[in-house]
Amino acid sequence: MHADGDRNEGSGGGAAGSTLLSKAGEGGKPYADGDPILEVRGLAKHYPLTQGILFKRQIGAVRAVDGVDFDLHAGETLGIVGESGCGKSTVAKMLVHLERPTAGAIRYKGEDVSRLSGRALKAVRRNIQMVFQDPYTSLNPRMTVGDIIGEPYEIHPEVAPKGSRRQKVQDLLDVVGLNPEYINRYPHQFSGGQRQRIGIARGLALNPEIIVADEPVSALDVSVQAQVVNLLDRLQAEFSLSFIFIAHDLSIVRHISDRVGVMYLGRIVEIGTDAEIYDHPTHPYTQALLSAVPVPDPEARAHRERIILHGDVPSPANIPSGCRFRTRCWKAQERCELEVPLLAVPAEFRFSDTPARHDSACHFAEEKHVVPQEGELEIPGRRPVEDVPEPGDDGPGPGDDGSQPGPTKDEAP
Ligand SMILES: Nc1ncnc2c1ncn2[C@@H]1O[C@H](COP(=O)(O)OP(=O)(O)OP(=O)(O)O)[C@@H](O)[C@H]1O
Ligand code: SF4
Ligand SMILES: [Mg+2]
Repeated sequence: MHADGDRNEGSGGGAAGSTLLSKAGEGGKPYADGDPILEVRGLAKHYPLTQGILFKRQIGAVRAVDGVDFDLHAGETLGIVGESGCGKSTVAKMLVHLERPTAGAIRYKGEDVSRLSGRALKAVRRNIQMVFQDPYTSLNPRMTVGDIIGEPYEIHPEVAPKGSRRQKVQDLLDVVGLNPEYINRYPHQFSGGQRQRIGIARGLALNPEIIVADEPVSALDVSVQAQVVNLLDRLQAEFSLSFIFIAHDLSIVRHISDRVGVMYLGRIVEIGTDAEIYDHPTHPYTQALLSAVPVPDPEARAHRERIILHGDVPSPANIPSGCRFRTRCWKAQERCELEVPLLAVPAEFRFSDTPARHDSACHFAEEKHVVPQEGELEIPGRRPVEDVPEPGDDGPGPGDDGSQPGPTKDEAP
């Protein structure tokens, strides 16, 4: 729960100096409990497939995202998981207006923002910011950290008038656990984890309400991933952020998410609370994904069921009829070829009281326990996230030129 204050109007000026990041005390109408801050309905992105050099004609379409529905509530984290190529990044890009949807609606506080342009779009864009996957390529190597983090203020000068920008950027560096004195350094002087902290600071610069984080830790060393996840966790609580956290790492998603949506070939096939999805999955695809999660306990590992999926993921230019998972599903029947399963609570669980009562796009949904409980999930080489100090030193990161160790707050002279 939080007040929306200056973030929602696209003008009106942010607070000055170190109060830049504080949501507490901001004015505006507070959100009512339970209202989704974001409603995504039937969201689709189809890229045309063309043939011919001079006279291009469309011969088909890559249905990268093909009808995605979900809600995001204020202050919650929605994890989105799925194999490579299932459309996660395309959803993220549409949410932050880097791609225009082919169809569907993105309702931010009730208003469909997917078709906005000009000033109206600019005002809304400020409230939904993105943290990118690769901190090595997403930061301009020729810009100082101060210029990178402060760049959004060029487009939204009302958030930080020129005289206050340096202080605001230094506040942001401090918030993400970096030394504010290094504002004039360049990205190559930082380690991967530190660069991702810079990317996160840039994402926070406009005081957004929603952060869309697209695989924010998958390019980092396993030893650093947990620190960045803990940072995101802390920032969410501190600034009442709503998060969409995209990853293919199911253990990390479980740690950070309140709810989880599982994507397959452009659609969400199952969505529910983290306990519903991890402990009571009803969709065969979710069950197969979970059965592949590493388990540290040898006894639990020996007793868990491993589901091996056969065949490749079909091309998004040639999606199977009926259930799009049917070509790899061990339970597929004739009905699966003929009828598209809707994402809804399956009829068999509609009147039950069990955690299996959540949305699942399967004609023959049934509960299956494939993984041990939460504490037993593990990613090789990583300590449990709770054990990792944060914010902290990711370890000195030599620059790309192999010169100075990357500066962290803790290393400040
Ligand atoms: N501009 C484009 N033109 C044509 N096809 C595209 C374009 N962008 C993405 N695609 C296709 O859309 C599908 C979804 O891509 P997307 O990047 O959203 O997947 P992803 O789930 O983020 O994958 P990964 O886990 O590898 O990042 C892929 O098949 C991809 O090749
Ligand atoms: S609808 Fe049929 S093919 Fe699709 S997941 Fe369910 S059982 Fe498998
Ligand atoms: Mg991606």
